[in-house]
Amino acid sequence: MKILVTGGTGYIGSHTVVELQQKGYEVIIVDNLSNSNIDVLPNIEKITGVKPLFEKFDLYDNVKTSDFFKRHNDIKAIIHFAAYKAVGESVEKPLMYYHNNLFSLINILYGMKDNNIKNIVFSSSCTVYGQPEQLPVKEDAPVLKALSPYGNTKQISEEILTDTCKTTDLNAILLRYFNPIGAHESALIGELPLGIPNNLVPFITQTAIGIREQLRVFGDDYNTPDGTAIRDYIHVVDLAKAHVIAVERLLENKNKLKNEIFNLGTGKGNSVLEVIKSFEKVSGVKLNYKIVERRPGDIEQVWADTEFANKELGWKAEKNIDEMNLSAWKWEKAIHNKATT
Ligand code: NAD
Ligand code: UD1
Repeated sequence: MKILVTGGTGYIGSHTVVELQQKGYEVIIVDNLSNSNIDVLPNIEKITGVKPLFEKFDLYDNVKTSDFFKRHNDIKAIIHFAAYKAVGESVEKPLMYYHNNLFSLINILYGMKDNNIKNIVFSSSCTVYGQPEQLPVKEDAPVLKALSPYGNTKQISEEILTDTCKTTDLNAILLRYFNPIGAHESALIGELPLGIPNNLVPFITQTAIGIREQLRVFGDDYNTPDGTAIRDYIHVVDLAKAHVIAVERLLENKNKLKNEIFNLGTGKGNSVLEVIKSFEKVSGVKLNYKIVERRPGDIEQVWADTEFANKELGWKAEKNIDEMNLSAWKWEKAIHNKATT
């Protein structure tokens, strides 16, 4: 059974490829390596014993995408990760984000239609909820106006998929991720942020290893128990496993709607200070941090209601915040060792 994983050399994609291969699926990756490294492929092979098929091209190129689908008309399902994802950059370069994230999706949907491929799993984000009025947030909570072009590409992509499902054979599962962190236990694959990380955990691990001098905690005057913002952090391997289940749900026609939406989180929120304390505990490193003003555009708190995903997918995130931090720390040390030897 051949599965196309777009963005499969990226952070979440590479972990998903591992889980798919370990369950016996044949994987073909398409990635333009705009935010990932070709070295991921031998490392996936080290973990699974299988080197995935790989093609490098831009999915926003409709001619190349159409040609790819003609050559691979035995693909049974697609997991579509490929997108740009830096919120701040999307504010600076909105057209680049709309162009890449939307054209790529549209080209894939044409390729699916022309080659009779019916199943797609799509990477969405809890960003579509903005600051929800009710917590934990359920899948039927209102989608609020996006705060960034990046967030808007996720909302528009969800609408493109929903509309296409209504009038074609397409079946889609939209997965709204909360905050994926951590790395594979082998420390062979993980997140590779380009330049200065925007996200909390890569910034923590880079500070601990000495690449960054100090972590800034953005705001301690939120209406939360310790004043810092709360998120639902989820281990990337738990997230990857949910993709295998979602794709199997489509392949086995177990989906109840042509277009289904699931939250992927743990259902538990952690504040920034709690994440820091957990990291210090599992790494034994005292982190240099200071409290600064809030980061513009940040919401106060969000965590998932996971009941629907737990019940319908038969999936539950298993790893806790300590395990997430420990794996992220092992990964940071592994890339540091590689760079210095
Ligand atoms: P990532 O940047 O590590 O992976 C994305 C991959 O897609 C990269 O390898 C990149 O080279 C590739 N890519 C981008 N544009 C492409 C194009 N036009 N053609 C071919 N390849 C292309 O990101 P990630 O963290 O693994 O995220 C995967 C998906 O999940 C993205 O859609 C992202 O928006 C979404 N998401 C991520 C998070 C998160 O915190 N990481 C949260 C919510 C949603
Ligand atoms: C951000 C994006 C979101 C995206 C997600 C995953 C914004 C507004 N949202 O989510 O759309 O889906 O990344 O890519 O950018 N923090 C610090 N110091 C730091 C970094 C972060 O205190 O150096 C805090 C933040 O203020 C936040 C928490 O840590 O409270 C998590 O931040 P981050 O990892 O950037 O994720 P989000 O902002 O939740």
